[in-house]
Amino acid sequence: MTQRVVLAYSGGLDTSVCVRWLQERGYEVIAFMADVGQGKSLGPTMKRARAAGARRIVVRDLRGEFVRDYVWPTLKADAVYEGKYYLATALSRPLIAKHLVEVAHRHGVRTVAHGCTGKGNDQVRFEVTARMLDPTLRIMAPLREWEFRSREEEIDYALRHRIPIDVTKKSPYSIDQNLWGVSLEAGVLENPWAEPPADTYRSLRAPERAAGRPGYVTVGFARGVPVSLNGQRLEGVRLIERLSQLAARHGVGRSELIESRVVGIKSREVYEAPAAAVLYEAHQDLQRFVLDGKLLAVKAALASTYAELVYGGLWFSPLKRALDAFVQETQRRVTGTVRLKLFKGSCQAVGRRSPHGLYRERLATYSAKDAFDQRAAEGFIKLLGLPYEGTLKGRG
Ligand code: ARG
Repeated sequence: MTQRVVLAYSGGLDTSVCVRWLQERGYEVIAFMADVGQGKSLGPTMKRARAAGARRIVVRDLRGEFVRDYVWPTLKADAVYEGKYYLATALSRPLIAKHLVEVAHRHGVRTVAHGCTGKGNDQVRFEVTARMLDPTLRIMAPLREWEFRSREEEIDYALRHRIPIDVTKKSPYSIDQNLWGVSLEAGVLENPWAEPPADTYRSLRAPERAAGRPGYVTVGFARGVPVSLNGQRLEGVRLIERLSQLAARHGVGRSELIESRVVGIKSREVYEAPAAAVLYEAHQDLQRFVLDGKLLAVKAALASTYAELVYGGLWFSPLKRALDAFVQETQRRVTGTVRLKLFKGSCQAVGRRSPHGLYRERLATYSAKDAFDQRAAEGFIKLLGLPYEGTLKGRG
């Protein structure tokens, strides 16, 4: 009996070659395609899967679930990996893995496969998630065992087998894209000294080519979740799409990072995440307006742990769930509106309002309207410093 395998299929070079490679080894391949807003039309991608030899294609539109259950919780946590990466790729993996396992179960298939290399983070994310859900499934990773030693060799193989592919030998970037952002690596980017060339700009303008005048946008939040843009209520997917376009015109949301991978190496990646850049700035600004300082500090300290868990494939881990519970509790007051200014690659909050704002103009003002009791400061300082009085005496 032929064995069947469900492959997480993207339509890119690696997974297209995977289909054929698995087929040559006697597998009947079910290609599972998750729509996470990668912006590729599904038609040609499905055609490619067929041309590569997939027996069956399963497509699921996961954009709504992606935003609601993965993007928003991470935004609420303010989680950014190594200060620069909004985790677009990392967030899609546990979601795709979850559905990959479901598709396998539904079709009675006992083997799943992915097109990740043995050097990256994505293999970790896919496999850890799949094993959390069903440790009895067999997992195959053709890229870890096959004979091709370079992208060029894969391209040759694809051409030989008439698999229509996107990449040309001239621009061999590896690109992962979804609604939340673009990740780009390989090719000339492997030289850490070389500035990313113009053709690495995928979803936004370079700051030097951005609009000559600043643009403004207002973002409304309800309990930490973005719910409106310029006063118009929008559901998540639409909101991100609209905001991405707007921010992209101003060159907002680009970063490059020499990052620390799970498997120990450093790698260089270019990221574009226009909507994320605006929403993180807005969300953090609103939090500073409505949350007290101690809570802000602890929350900020946990944000990097949250990001490390997401990056490292531990999305469904108990620690990550516990952090979500904490974060959720902090978001009760994070309702309000932030106004932001976008200009040539930068995005700054320039105004905010909220029914829960802790800022009181009459207490902060230096004008005659001041209502702050300055005499109360005297006793406060005395008691605050009491335990330390004289403790530096004679120390030289
Ligand atoms: N380094 C990023 C991560 O681990 C992106 C990985 C995928 N990148 C790519 N260009 N295919 O999340």
